[in-house]
Amino acid sequence: MTYRNIQVRQFSGAGGAEITGVDLASASDDAIAEIQRALAEFLVVTLPDQPLDDAQLARFTSRLGPFGLEPFVEGDTTHPNVIAVIKEADEVRRLNFGGNWHSDWSFLETPPSYTLLHARQLPPYGGDTLFANQYLAFESLSEGMQTLLKGQRAIHSARRPYGPQSHNANGKHLRSMKIKTGPEAMAEYSHPMVRRHPVTGRNALFVNRVYTIRLDDMTEAESAPLIGFLTEHSIRPEFIIRVSWRPQMLTIWDNRVVQHLAVNDYDGHRRELHRTSVLGEAPVAA
Ligand code: SIN
Repeated sequence: MTYRNIQVRQFSGAGGAEITGVDLASASDDAIAEIQRALAEFLVVTLPDQPLDDAQLARFTSRLGPFGLEPFVEGDTTHPNVIAVIKEADEVRRLNFGGNWHSDWSFLETPPSYTLLHARQLPPYGGDTLFANQYLAFESLSEGMQTLLKGQRAIHSARRPYGPQSHNANGKHLRSMKIKTGPEAMAEYSHPMVRRHPVTGRNALFVNRVYTIRLDDMTEAESAPLIGFLTEHSIRPEFIIRVSWRPQMLTIWDNRVVQHLAVNDYDGHRRELHRTSVLGEAPVAA
């Protein structure tokens, strides 16, 4: 694909591209359209050296679409649609935000299409974010398994991380983030296990170990072997896109077709990134 308004360099076999040659605070409509094309092609894009404040990050986000919903986390920034993702230096041996493989807010009727994360303060080493390409996860399954999954739906719920019995409710999470827990996290939502991307038309696996509870019309015990297999399969090394942060770098991912995980390997150092999301559509079955 040709890009006229931005430079695009793929950095990983499973996708992921670095975009340069654009200032997001003043990008043209053509450049924004090309960033969205690059997202469709590479799933995850990084934009180094973008010194955005919260208002600029929010303004850029709204050029990609309406803001997504942000349940269970209070923003704690200078803009209502921007969330601070923080781990303090003294928060050691604690679960970090986003530290298990997931797709953002997949328990919502309309999970985000894109998530944006902007680096504000980074540890001297570590703190990378890993992404797993879910097109590849689906396409590498056998034909038989693909056919079986295409007809299936699964239940997603926020209850494991945000329910009354969750690690967040029990104080095992970070103190530095304002996480809300409660019975509303017990709500369940059914989504197709394989979703078709509205732009590319490709099919992606849509199952993750944090929010996918069970198959529709099955118990958790009955579903566990298949969900366990799929969640292990979906993060195979050849599907991974690794983002190593630099100060003032913005990363955008297509949340419909990747899972991600924040690597928690920098105890004793502070990490702060600011996050927004774009409202997505209800997942459409393959
Ligand atoms: C998240 O899941 O949004 C957090 C990712 C990160 O902190 O790298």
